[in-house]
Amino acid sequence: MNLTSYQQELLDGAHGKGKAMAMRIQTVVGEAFGARELVPVTRAHVALSAQEADTWFASKLLDAGAVCAVSPTVNPGYDLSFFTARGLVDEVGSALMRRTHEVYRALGATLTYSCTPYLFENIPRYGEIAAFSETSATVYVNSVLGARTHRESSASALCAAVTGFTPLYGMLLPQNRRATVLVDVRARVETPFDYALLGLTAPKLGGGVPVFTGLAPHMTTESLITLGTQLNVAGVCDLYHIVGVTPDARDVCDALGGAAPERTVTVTDEDLEAARRAWSPHRKDEPLEFVMLGCPHYTWRQVCELSALLEGRRAKAAVWVLTSSAVLELATRTGLTARLTELGCTLVAGTCVDEAACWSHLRGASGVTDSPKCAYYMRSFGVEPTVHDTKTCVRWALEGRTDA
Ligand code: F3S
Repeated sequence: MNLTSYQQELLDGAHGKGKAMAMRIQTVVGEAFGARELVPVTRAHVALSAQEADTWFASKLLDAGAVCAVSPTVNPGYDLSFFTARGLVDEVGSALMRRTHEVYRALGATLTYSCTPYLFENIPRYGEIAAFSETSATVYVNSVLGARTHRESSASALCAAVTGFTPLYGMLLPQNRRATVLVDVRARVETPFDYALLGLTAPKLGGGVPVFTGLAPHMTTESLITLGTQLNVAGVCDLYHIVGVTPDARDVCDALGGAAPERTVTVTDEDLEAARRAWSPHRKDEPLEFVMLGCPHYTWRQVCELSALLEGRRAKAAVWVLTSSAVLELATRTGLTARLTELGCTLVAGTCVDEAACWSHLRGASGVTDSPKCAYYMRSFGVEPTVHDTKTCVRWALEGRTDA
């Protein structure tokens, strides 16, 4: 690894033990991937999870005196005051969230607690080198914004934030960003949920960097978010190309870097329906107790669409809507939070579906979500929502039952 004199000082501990620890990790990770140098990052996002191992690691850096050189935004943990006021988290969970908050604040993080930082608080420019963790965020930053980031772990993203550097390999290099798999979409793909199902076909795509063709132009931001998110639930995807969206893909030839694709894959309506069925536990004609929306965090447009779908009717099942504090503030200011509350919805900011401390009261309850990622994480602690499009989620919520 060729280090600059400043990077060598960091590694040698001239700027403190905490920075030296982070630098050691960065150089070892870089060597593992064959990197020859470290490059500066101007942005970072840490997938803080408010879970024991993550907070332990961040505490180790803090105890060694680390402070972030680049203040990272952070993923959701959970809104402590909201959940404790409702008696939904115990003292152990509360203590962990408090400690997480204190550690990250002392490290100099920007405490956004959202998994959609690229919409508000932390928006990389085209070509900018960033260190983002959170699988739904990294793929959006690479594919839609055209910035360059590894699919960092929360630990490596935090080390990049502390040192201000990341190893040069993988997605930071132009030759690794060209598409290798041509995906010919012959399915009807319109709504964000359709894009989620398209993402779930990742195993059929077989890895590599996909370029999607056959999609109608002008898909929404939410569709692009859900595509990248679910590509990383069913598989691993740092970057996708869509002509007219991905800045490096002016046409398919451009996306492929002028080379022939390594594979061509066709995706049909049957593939999408098979993906949905594979992710949906069978729920037929039974009472519905909850709906979970907002994984990734619902955007302002999605919150407005939810309100429109309800058409002033009150839901019989509990509807949870996870969002960023920015969207919640906007909803509250415009009166939408109060309106949705009257209709049986609860908007919560700063919270992730992958927080057993908050959601274990839903174990054994019948639920539905419009996000396969939500179903994936909730299953890890015994909550098993089925997966359907947003309209079906709302219809079931209003009826308090699943379809016969
Ligand atoms: Fe966001 Fe947590 Fe889902 S970080 S994407 S709400 S698993």
